[in-house]
Amino acid sequence: MITLGIETSCDETAVALYDSDKGLIGESVFSQIDLHSEYGGVIPELASRDHCKKIIKIYKHALGSIDSNTIDYIAYTAGPGLLGALLIGENFAQGLAVALNKPLIPVNHLEAHLMAPFLGGEAVEFPFLTLLVSGGHSLIIDVQGLNQYKILGQSRDDAVGEAFDKVAKLIGLGYPGGPEIEKIAQQGDAKKFDFPQPMLHSSDYDFSFSGLKTAVLYAVQDLGEMNDTIQADIAASFQHAATEVLLKKITKAVEDTGRESIILAGGVAANKLLRSKISDLKTRLQINVLYPPLKHCTDNAAMIAYLGSLKVNEASKSLISHARPRWPLGVKK
Ligand code: KG4
Ligand code: ZN
Repeated sequence: MITLGIETSCDETAVALYDSDKGLIGESVFSQIDLHSEYGGVIPELASRDHCKKIIKIYKHALGSIDSNTIDYIAYTAGPGLLGALLIGENFAQGLAVALNKPLIPVNHLEAHLMAPFLGGEAVEFPFLTLLVSGGHSLIIDVQGLNQYKILGQSRDDAVGEAFDKVAKLIGLGYPGGPEIEKIAQQGDAKKFDFPQPMLHSSDYDFSFSGLKTAVLYAVQDLGEMNDTIQADIAASFQHAATEVLLKKITKAVEDTGRESIILAGGVAANKLLRSKISDLKTRLQINVLYPPLKHCTDNAAMIAYLGSLKVNEASKSLISHARPRWPLGVKK
C-alpha cells in the first residue's frame, strides 16, 4: 500500500511516498529559506506563490520512476500553518485525487512531527512522552495511542524555535535562527551571560520563552557593540538557557508520569545540544529516547505520508476543504 504525502504548511514544498511494506520509497523537499532570509522571517504571500511554482516539479522528483497509478492514498497537511500555503498543497492533492481517482487523507502537521521518529520502521510502543519543539510550538505531550494525546505542558508565549529565530535576528544572524545559533555557539562561552531560565521551578510543565528573548535584547542594548566573540557568547548562553528549561521540564514529566520513553520531535529537535542533553536521560532515568534523523526533524513530507498510512481509515474522496491555520493536536478534523 503506497501513500503519497504532501507538505506545504510553511516554507518547505515537500512530497514523499511511503510504502507500508518497504518504508519510504521517494522523497523530495524544496526549502524556501533563501527566498525569505532577506526579510528575516517567512512572508506568507511569497511562500504561497513559491509553493505554486514548485509543487509539480517536487512531485515529479519524489515520484522518480514510480508509476503514479500505484499510489493508493493521498495524504496532505491540512493544518496548522499558513492558510494560503496550506491551500496550495490541498488543491494539488485534490487535483491529483480526481485525476488518479484515489482517496484523500487530510492530516495534522503537529501529529505528523510527533510520529516522525517511527518512519524508519521502529516499533511504536505506547505510551510515551513527546517533546515537540518547533517554530510554532513547544509542547510536552503524553501520547497514549494514535489519536490519544494529552497535552501536559506548552509555551505560554513564544515557541522555542521562534525564540531561536528572534534572538538570531537580535544579534545579527540570518534566518532560520536555530541552525545559525547552533553553529556560532560552538565558538562561544555559555557561561558568559547568565540568561534567565523562565518557569524552571514552576510546578507545571509549561514554558515561557519571551522573557529569555527580552533578556537577550537588554544585553544587546547594554553592550552597545557587537562583534564575533560577543555574538558567539550570546548564542551559546541563550542556547544553554533554552535547552536547560526544556530538559528540566521533560525530566519532571518523566518522573511524574513514570513513562519509559521520550520522543523528541519538531525543527528544534535538530539541535545537537538538546539531543545530547535529552540522550543523557537514557542512563540517568533508565528510559528510551528516540528522535527522527535530522532531515525528518524539520518540515518534510515523509512524516505526512507515514502518518497518512496510519490513518487510511479516515480516507475519503470528498473534496471538502479541511485547510485551517489553527488545528490543535487531538481535535478531530
Ligand atoms: O518544525 P519546523 O521545521 O517548522 C515548524 O513547524 O515550525 O521548525 C522550524 C524551527 C525554526 O524556528 C528553526 O529555527 C528551528 O526549528 N530549528 C532549530 C534548529 N534547526 C531548526 N532550532 C535550534 N537548533 C537547530 N539546529
Ligand atoms: Zn513543522
